Amino acid sequence: MASGLRLVTVTPENVGEACRLRVRPEQRDMVAPVAWSLAEAYVHGEKAWPRVVCDGDQLVGFVMAAFDAETAPKRCGIWRLNIAADHQRRGYGRFAVEAVCREVLRRGGQRLSVRWVPDEHGPEDFYRRLGFQPTGQIIHGEVEAELLVTENSTPAGLPARPDRG
Ligand SMILES: CC(C)(COP(=O)(O)OP(=O)(O)OC[C@H]1O[C@@H](n2cnc3c(N)ncnc32)[C@H](O)[C@@H]1OP(=O)(O)O)[C@@H](O)C(=O)NCCC(=O)NCCS
Repeated sequence: MASGLRLVTVTPENVGEACRLRVRPEQRDMVAPVAWSLAEAYVHGEKAWPRVVCDGDQLVGFVMAAFDAETAPKRCGIWRLNIAADHQRRGYGRFAVEAVCREVLRRGGQRLSVRWVPDEHGPEDFYRRLGFQPTGQIIHGEVEAELLVTENSTPAGLPARPDRG
C-alpha cells in the first residue's frame, strides 16, 4: 500500500473529481452517487462526515460516516462507501473503514454500524471480512451489521491515530 494513502476533506478543488467517481455498473444500486451523498451531507451538516480517499494525488474513493452525538451511547455508522471501479480490491475500502474506526475512537464511540443491500453484487462479504456481524435487524430491506471498535481491535488492529482529513 502506497504511503500516500489518506482521507481528505471535500474541497472546492476535489469536489468535481469526487462527483465523477463511479463504482462498477452492477454495483450502482448498492450505493448512492457521491453527489447525492454530498447533498445529504449539506443538509445533515451536524452529523455527516464526508471524506475522499486519496492515494498520492489520485482520488480512489469516497466514504461518509454518520456521527450522532446526541444519542447515548453515541451512534456511529458508515453511511456511504464508494471505491472507484478501477481501484477496487486493493485495500482502499478497508483503509476507509479503518480510518472511520479511528474517528469513532477519537469521539469516544465503541461501535460502528453499517447497512447493506442483500444482493450478489452487494458488500456483505467485504464487511464480514472486516469483522462486522449482522445484528438481526432488517431496516428498509437492508441488513444491519455492527463492529465493536476498541483501541486494539479496529479491523487491522491499528492503534488509534488522528485522521489527517
Ligand atoms: C464494497 C467495496 C467498498 C469494497 O472496497 P474494496 O476497496 O474493493 O475492498 P478492499 O480491497 O479493501 O477489500 C478488503 C477485503 O474484503 C474483500 N472483499 C472486497 N470486496 C469483496 C467482495 N465483493 N466479495 C468478497 N470479498 C471482498 C477483499 O478481498 C479483502 O479481503 P482480504 O482482507 O482477504 O484481502 C467496493 O466494492 C465498492 O465500492 N462497492 C460498491 C459500493 C458499495 O456496495 N458500497 C457499500 C455500501 S454500504
